[in-house]
Amino acid sequence: MKHAIDSRMISKKEMLDLFADAEKIRTKKSSPLKGKILASLFYEPSTRTRLSFESAMYRLGGSVISTENARESSSIVKGESIEDTIRVIAHYADVVVMRHFEEGSADRAARVSAIPIINAGDGVGQHPTQALLDLYTIWRERGSIDNLSLAIIGDLKNGRTVKSLLWALSQFKDIHATLVSPKALRLPTAILDELAETSLVLKETDRLDSILPLADIVYQTRIQKERFPTIKEYEKYKSCYKIDEKLARTMKKGALLLHPLPRVDEIAPEVDRLPQAAYFRQAENGLYLRSALLKHLLL
Ligand code: NCD
Repeated sequence: MKHAIDSRMISKKEMLDLFADAEKIRTKKSSPLKGKILASLFYEPSTRTRLSFESAMYRLGGSVISTENARESSSIVKGESIEDTIRVIAHYADVVVMRHFEEGSADRAARVSAIPIINAGDGVGQHPTQALLDLYTIWRERGSIDNLSLAIIGDLKNGRTVKSLLWALSQFKDIHATLVSPKALRLPTAILDELAETSLVLKETDRLDSILPLADIVYQTRIQKERFPTIKEYEKYKSCYKIDEKLARTMKKGALLLHPLPRVDEIAPEVDRLPQAAYFRQAENGLYLRSALLKHLLL
C-alpha cells in the first residue's frame, strides 16, 4: 500500500498487520518517525480524524504542519487545484492526510503525489481510516471479524464511513449486513450492485426495531446535514432512527454499538453507560490504528 485512498486498496493481510501493530503501539512508547513531517490538509470540519492523526505523528516522534480550515485559508481560495497544492506540499512533508469536499479528490491528489496520501474523507466518497479503526475495534473486542451479522443504520447515501466499512468487510468470511435507512437515504444502487459481486450478504430495510436484536454489531451513523440541499429536507430525516436505552437493551448479549462520531441525537446519552456502547473506545482505537498506518506508509 503506497497511499490509503479507498478501502478496496487495502488487503486483509495489511489490515490484520495494522491491527497487530496497533496493539504493540498502545503499550510501548517509541519514536520511529523522528524527523518525518505530516501535513494535514482539511477542507471540511474534523475533530477526531485530524487530531488523532496529529497526535499519532507526535507520539511516534514526528512533526506536523497543518491547515485546519483549508477551504477558507489555503490557496484554493485563489483558485489553485488540488493537484498543484499537493505537488508543492510533497516538498514540505513526508505524508499528507487530507479531507476534501469532493468525491475523488484524494485519488486525484495521489495520482500526482510523490509522497503517501491518506484520504481522511472525500465528500460522499470514502473514509478508509475510519473503516480500519472500525474493524480494529471489532477485531479487538470480539477476537475476529469473520462470521458477523451487522445492522448498519442511518444516512447510507451520503455517509462515507459506511461505504469504506462495507468494502473492508467484503474481504472477510460470512458477513451478513442489514442496511437500515429511509428509502431516500439508501446506499446508492451502483455501490449495492458492486457489493453484490463480493461475498457480503446484504439486505435492506427501513425498520430498525426488528433488526436490532439480531445483530452482533450495530453501526449507527449521523444524518449528514451538510449534504442536504435545504435544512427543511434534512429535518425530514433528522431524527429518523434514535437509539435510546430501551432500544439498546433489546440488543443481543455481547453485541456492540458502534458509531464513527460525531453523534447528534441518534444515540441518546443515557446509552453511553451500557456495556454495548463501544463508540468512545472505538474513537480511542483510532489513535493507535492511525499510528500503525503512518508507520506502515513511512517506514
Ligand atoms: C465521519 C466523517 O467525517 O465522515 N466523521 C469521522 O471522521 N469520524 C462521520 C460523520 O461526520 O458523520
